[in-house]
Amino acid sequence: MTEGLIEAHEHGAPTAREAQDGREGHGDLDGLVAAVTGGASGIGLATARLLRDRGARVAVLDLVPAPDADLLSVPCDVSRDDVVRAAVARVAGELGGLDVLVSNAGIGAVGTVEAGDDDEWARVLDVNVTGAARAIRAALPHLRASRAPSVVLTCSVVAFVGVPNRALYAASKGAVAALTLAMAADHVHEGIRVNAVSPGTADTPWVARLLDQAADPAAERAALEARQPIGRLVTAGEVARAIAYLASPLSGATTGSILSVDGGMTNLRLPR
Ligand SMILES: NC(=O)c1ccc[n+]([C@@H]2O[C@H](COP(=O)([O-])OP(=O)(O)OC[C@H]3O[C@@H](n4cnc5c(N)ncnc54)[C@H](O)[C@@H]3O)[C@@H](O)[C@H]2O)c1
Repeated sequence: MTEGLIEAHEHGAPTAREAQDGREGHGDLDGLVAAVTGGASGIGLATARLLRDRGARVAVLDLVPAPDADLLSVPCDVSRDDVVRAAVARVAGELGGLDVLVSNAGIGAVGTVEAGDDDEWARVLDVNVTGAARAIRAALPHLRASRAPSVVLTCSVVAFVGVPNRALYAASKGAVAALTLAMAADHVHEGIRVNAVSPGTADTPWVARLLDQAADPAAERAALEARQPIGRLVTAGEVARAIAYLASPLSGATTGSILSVDGGMTNLRLPR
């Protein structure tokens, strides 16, 4: 992204590329390289595809391969520092640098604070919190060399709202929220923006797996839909568009933000 493009937007003039596409913002990631952890499924896959469609060269860092041939699929377990460093180095080497990191890989945990043992706590925090730190740490040298560096983390509504039976998972996402703000402060003077999205319950394979385990999946789905003021689940595409907004150089004034994509669940109180 060039200063010229940003200025053209600020003065309301369409860029040549926009005029060609007829859509503001389309192509805003032209020439940039993005990596998405957990990008082979759900929110991460929708994000990888959207960043690609907006012009980025995109790598997916995941335990499983990305389904699209035009996404660079890099095997990666965010719980292993050596693997994460090698994966990020490969992305930068093969795609020519790294401008946008989407730290999205995450795993769930169900139950109250009495449910999980220390091993489960260590495993979930290792993937959801330290895994994000590992990916961002490995990306930082490349982000410092970028013209438009940006980090976006996937947080969750459970960081801000008490939801039953999610003690460990909520603790991990609370840490992601705090990490987002701390890193935004640490790196603002380097021009590196750090933001997060906070999805409500989103219609992804993750939630499908949760529903499959319920005694009455249809009733459980209806309860999850009713919990969100919009009366439905969030789509992976809606979360992806929020991530793309935060990742875009057009959002250069936005850092240290946690953008809710939660159907109103965090902030609205409706009469029953
Ligand atoms: N679906 C929801 O309702 C919801 C709501 C709020 C936040 N989130 C968050 O969104 C993110 C994505 O969730 P989703 O619903 O798309 O889930 P998903 O299960 O569809 O996708 C998660 C991806 O992460 C990958 N992954 C898991 N562990 C990994 C590891 N150690 N290293 C690398 N990759 C790993 C998986 O292989 C998978 O491809 C997670 O951080 C989750 O906490 C989801």
